[in-house]
Amino acid sequence: MRVLVSGGAGYIGSHTVLSLLEAGHDVVVVDDFSNSKPTVQGRLEALSGKHVPFHAFDLTNTEKTEQLFTHEQIDAVVHFAGFKAVGESVSEPLRYYQNNLDATFSLLRAMERTGVTKFVFSSSATVYGEHAPVPYQEEYEHLSASSPYGQTKVVIERVLADVAAVHEGWRIALLRYFNPVGAHPSGRIGEDPQGIPNNLMPFIAQVAVGRRERLTVFGDDYPTADGTCERDYIHVMDLAEGHVAALEHLEELAEPVRAFNLGTGRGTSVLEMVHAFERAAGRELPYEVGPRRPGDLAAFWADPARANTELGWRATRTIDEICADTWRWQSANPRGYPDA
Ligand code: WQD
Repeated sequence: MRVLVSGGAGYIGSHTVLSLLEAGHDVVVVDDFSNSKPTVQGRLEALSGKHVPFHAFDLTNTEKTEQLFTHEQIDAVVHFAGFKAVGESVSEPLRYYQNNLDATFSLLRAMERTGVTKFVFSSSATVYGEHAPVPYQEEYEHLSASSPYGQTKVVIERVLADVAAVHEGWRIALLRYFNPVGAHPSGRIGEDPQGIPNNLMPFIAQVAVGRRERLTVFGDDYPTADGTCERDYIHVMDLAEGHVAALEHLEELAEPVRAFNLGTGRGTSVLEMVHAFERAAGRELPYEVGPRRPGDLAAFWADPARANTELGWRATRTIDEICADTWRWQSANPRGYPDA
């Protein structure tokens, strides 16, 4: 299939582009580079040995988006593009709602007008909010997010269900990720957050490579084995392969719109991750224990059984592989991707 990957220059998007190409699909990328770099295109083409057309514009421009669909003969869409910083979304809710929703509406309009019926959506476990029966998450349907970012995912999932209900033949997979981490084993693509990382793994990697002085562990007094929070960390290559599996199973979905948890089904604590990274990097990681971060749950991980059985997909990579691949990327690219 000829697949349009929105946000394909981003962290999960770029790894999914590679997995789609390796599975024999053609890929077209659209990205506005608001949180990624154009140099990703060269890395993807070198790794895949294939030409990967990049279109650089903002998807909220509906006219340009429709022209893209007409010009590129798209068969399916994998949609990552969107703002995703939880904290930033709290201080800039309107910017988040407008960007994330308008970009999606623009894609759906173009699909309607050009007869594209396959859609894979990058959703998030954040739609489970803090009221769901944690830590074990089946595809829980009483969605409620605690940030505007998470709410954009809840709203988009609702919009997709309503649009598919009036379009016979549309097939949509909603992929709810837990904690994406790791990098392609080549070390040529990886996570490159702009500014100070919010998430644990890029912060650890930047401490290990000397860009940051030390890690602050946000609380060690949680009701967990070692007192630090537990999360379902999934290797980004497992995640990318999950998108390919979802795309290739769209025609067999049990219902036109179906949600899948993409996770490992087990939790790893902050300190377990710190020590695994020390083993991978062969160096001590300086850290201090600070106060809890508001909103953090003690333990939160996936029940990936539906994805395992219905998509024939399973996360296979270990925490040690995650740390080794992350370290290979970060040590080879201490300041992330070059600007040009
Ligand atoms: C993991 C653990 C922190 C940084 C977030 C988003 C969620 C999803 C995945 C998009 C927590 C601890 C972190 C640090 C620390 N993103 N930590 N020191 O919060 O589970 O999920 O990313 O969909 O929406 O909320 O991930 O990596 O921020 O934190 O101790 O410097 O690491 O307290 O326990 P989180 P995270």
